Amino acid sequence: MAEIKCVGVVGAGQMGSGIAQLAATNGLDVWLLDADRDALSRATGAISSSINRFVSKGHVLRLLHDPLETLEFIFIFFEVRDDAMRRLRLTSNLQDLCSADIIVEAIVESEDVKKKLFKDLDGIAKSSAILASNTSSISITRLASATKRPSQVIGMHFMNPPPIMKLVEIIRGADTSEETFVATKALAERFGKTTVCSQDYAGFIVNRILMPMINEAFHTLYTGVATKEDIDSGMKHGTNQPMGPLELADLIGLDVCLSVMKVLHEGLGDSKYAPCPLLVQYVDAGRLGRKRGIGVYDYRKATQKPIT
Ligand code: NAI
Repeated sequence: MAEIKCVGVVGAGQMGSGIAQLAATNGLDVWLLDADRDALSRATGAISSSINRFVSKGHVLRLLHDPLETLEFIFIFFEVRDDAMRRLRLTSNLQDLCSADIIVEAIVESEDVKKKLFKDLDGIAKSSAILASNTSSISITRLASATKRPSQVIGMHFMNPPPIMKLVEIIRGADTSEETFVATKALAERFGKTTVCSQDYAGFIVNRILMPMINEAFHTLYTGVATKEDIDSGMKHGTNQPMGPLELADLIGLDVCLSVMKVLHEGLGDSKYAPCPLLVQYVDAGRLGRKRGIGVYDYRKATQKPIT
């Protein structure tokens, strides 16, 4: 398999922009594509300020130790940032991705929409290119079936936010080749990530376990067992998690959580995975979480409005 020098990323939302940032800051050329031009300009701003945050955090840590080392560190980091921003190219034209050695898809969590994209990507990508999906739960085997290169289709599931979270879950479809697996794992490791390998069953490893917990938190709220604050505080302090399940759902996006629960419900055929009616209702109401300013919590005001 050819060396990976250029990465295509499709979808410039919270995941795609983070994946593009990782690739660009690790010395790869990047094409970031989104159907929505506004999403592309939001992504550029998010990537630039995310890299700056890394600089200022690192700066504070090193300032405590050695001022000379601090200056050198800042200089190197600004070089990395400028180089990364130069490597990043934005587009809404799929054809531009024809030079990519791997294309990572991070669009909306819908099997039909992703399949259409994989078919189109198969038509424009070079014959050696890997087509990877960041899907949270959709079958890699079924996405691969939309292409004529199923051995080069794989799941590359980053966690949110991709520049910070350590894990990349790698999912082998029924026909994924060893060569594709090895190249994808090596790329994740180049990004400094820890990898785990999952077979292609609904929800893979992380969401198979995480999403039912989030769904149960919604049931706990729905049935009036406790307030959203107490549910989150209980799980945060009682099980030593960095954030409660309802806060986490708002970060992930309630639409993504609902899509994953539907895939688990259909794919595993057990009523225990049925999405909580309250989760369904929030999504119907457009309360998708942080990205919309309101989900379980209201982020548009300093004081959060009770919504249950
Ligand atoms: P998002 O809603 O923030 O971004 C999706 C982007 O894709 C939008 O900018 C949209 O304009 C674009 N898009 C939609 N259809 C397109 C198409 N056909 N062609 C080009 N662009 C298109 O979504 P997010 O949260 O970044 O999720 C993306 C994928 O990553 C989903 O499959 C999701 O399940 C998965 N994922 C999400 C995580 C999360 O915590 N949000 C974590 C891990 C995976």
